[in-house]
Amino acid sequence: MIQLLASTRSKEYPVFLSSGSLPELGSLWRAQGKSGRVIMITDSNVAGIHLPAARESFEREGFTVETLVVEAGEDAKSLDRAAELYDELYRLGARRRDTVCAFGGGVVGDLAGFVASTYMRGIGLIQVPTTLLAQVDSSIGGKVGVNIAAAKNYVGSFYQPDMVLADPSLLRTLPRGQLQEGLAEIVKYALLGGEEFFAALESSSEGFLELDMAFVEPVIRRCIEYKLKVVAEDERDYGRRAVLNLGHTVAHGIEAAG
Ligand code: GLY
Repeated sequence: MIQLLASTRSKEYPVFLSSGSLPELGSLWRAQGKSGRVIMITDSNVAGIHLPAARESFEREGFTVETLVVEAGEDAKSLDRAAELYDELYRLGARRRDTVCAFGGGVVGDLAGFVASTYMRGIGLIQVPTTLLAQVDSSIGGKVGVNIAAAKNYVGSFYQPDMVLADPSLLRTLPRGQLQEGLAEIVKYALLGGEEFFAALESSSEGFLELDMAFVEPVIRRCIEYKLKVVAEDERDYGRRAVLNLGHTVAHGIEAAG
């Protein structure tokens, strides 16, 4: 198991990375000295595939687990959906000692992270990214939020999770298009990281897309390490962190136009 340390002004937390590590989620959380309930927020795609293993890992450690499922897709990243989740958390009697586990891709991580950052002014948060894009980027560094009608990511906060667990074996159930989307994010890191990283990525991209873990884990690790360094320097995006938006701003424009 690879364990990295995220170190920001507001919080330090572990980032675990290992293929096949999902069943260890509960014990890793227990090892952080945590108790309270775990409220898993996931989407309709992930719920049908990986949710039972995640739930089981918490239950094996004696945690009570609740599950809230949102419809898969970008439309879930809205204030309306966040408001529904607040109501659900209230109905469940969630308190500040409880923890939201954001279990999904970028949409779920941003939405559930935003809800965790604002419900009762902030409750615990675990990020368990299930897409490549979320494993290398959105689950790390604490940017959480929702879209408004006019623009993407305009409402949100910086809210660091208490733990991140990335299990690249979960990527095996993704359509190839989603892997390519994540690989584009990795190209961003390779452009930022320099010639050697870029050349290494070019020579391993086929093995990567075949999800050969000998290629996948080291590349994901490199991206996470790069991001952790930038976020440690500039958690709230006043300067250096802007480099992480390389390609994002123009791509958001294309997405909106399309
Ligand atoms: N995804 C860009 C950032 O976290 O700053």
